[in-house]
Parts: sequence; structure tokens; C-alpha cells
Amino acid sequence: MENLCKNYVIAIDGEAGTGKSTLAKSIAKKYKIVYMDTGAMYRCVTLEMLNNDISMDDVEKIEKMLDDIKIEIRNDDDEDKFFLNGKDVTKKIREQKVNDNVSQVSHIPIVRERMVELQRKLANGKKIVMEGRDIGTNVFPNAQVKIYLTASAHVKAKRRYEQNKEKGINIPFEEIYNNVVFRDNNDKNSNVAPLKKAADAFELDTTNYTLDEVENIVVNKIKEKVALND
Ligand code: DC
Repeated sequence: MENLCKNYVIAIDGEAGTGKSTLAKSIAKKYKIVYMDTGAMYRCVTLEMLNNDISMDDVEKIEKMLDDIKIEIRNDDDEDKFFLNGKDVTKKIREQKVNDNVSQVSHIPIVRERMVELQRKLANGKKIVMEGRDIGTNVFPNAQVKIYLTASAHVKAKRRYEQNKEKGINIPFEEIYNNVVFRDNNDKNSNVAPLKKAADAFELDTTNYTLDEVENIVVNKIKEKVALND
């Protein structure tokens, strides 16, 4: 078995609502490795742009904002909390106005460049499970494990809806469905780090599986490539 004690990156990419977060979090917790939600970073940048009325084509202002922005992830009571310039924005970054803008913001070249830089820096020297859209293709093209998840649009929207409900966020199903379809299309058709399966990724359609089943399949795949500490 390779990588018995070495650091490694497990890249989990895929469409919105395919269960990436739940899966990545659970694997990180069980096997005591670091978890990183890269989508939340793009959400923090989006919130900062909305808060300061920065337009998507104002590259100068965006660059200045990125020079000053401070995004922190703190693990609090088993829950990852996101802090934007010192303020807890864990809930705010899931609001609809962020959902509506994050896909476009995440494909602004300078935003992508800075976030990828930060993600590589934060992962340095760690065993890490990193979840996003371009981890296996762009952030860590040499990741030891690459997983790519898909699901039907209806199932993706339903999972997001339930997830929001659990967090006390009330967004109508129809709105979520439309947003999921819009974002996946936008993420796939972007010129900047589009969402696509890396050639060497293991692809799993999760439509007909429970989250536990997905986890079983994925963990077995991971164990073919790196040693997880049970
Ligand atoms: O995983 P999420 O739904 O929180 O991600 C929010 C948006 O950020 C999503 O529409 C695509 C974008 N994103 C990205 O382009 N690249 C990543 N590595 C992570 C997220």
C-alpha cells in the first residue's frame, strides 16, 4: 500500500447537492483528517462583494478586496464555522442572495487564482479531504484520490432543501431546484476552471444511493489508494 504515512489529498468534486459536503465531513471525522469546504470560501468572497456593493466587472475593487479579505475556518463544537474578517458568517453564506451570485463570482479569474492559492497553502503538509468543483482538475491535479459525484437534478434539489431545513434556512423547493440547475450549468460552462470530471477520477451517480451507501463505496475506493487510519 502506497502513502502509508505520507500526506495526501482526497479530492471530492461534483455538482451542487450530490452529498459532497456530508460525505467529506464524515470521512474527515472518522479518519481524523482535515476537511476543507472550498465552496464556502467562494461564498465568503461573494458575501463580501455583496456587502460592499462591488460589481462583478470591477476588477480593481475586487483585487483590493481580495488583498484585505480574511477567511477563517474554526472548528467549534464539531461544526466548522466560517469567519469573514472576524465575523461569524456560517449562516449568512448559505442565504439565497449568495446562492444566486456565487457561481458567477467563483469564475472571476482573479477570485479563482487567489482562492486556489489559499487552498494549496492551507492543505500544505496535511492529510486532507477537500471538497469543491475543480480540486481534482485544477487545485490538486496530482491528488492521490479523486472522486466525482453526480445525481439527478430533482434529487440534488431535494437534498439541498432538506439540508437547509435542518439548518433552519427556509427556501422554497422550486427556488432551490432552479438555482441548482442554473449553477451546475454555469459551473460546467465556465471558461475558468469549469466543473468537469478529471480523467482519472472515480465517478459515482448517487441518485439511487443513500448517503451511507455512497460513503461505503467511496471509502472502499479511497482505501485502494491511501491508508486511512481506522
Ligand atoms: O459547494 P457550494 O455549493 O457551496 O459551492 C458554491 C459555488 O462555488 C458553486 O456554484 C461553484 C463554486 N465553486 C467552484 O467553482 N469551485 C470550487 N472548488 C468550489 C465551489
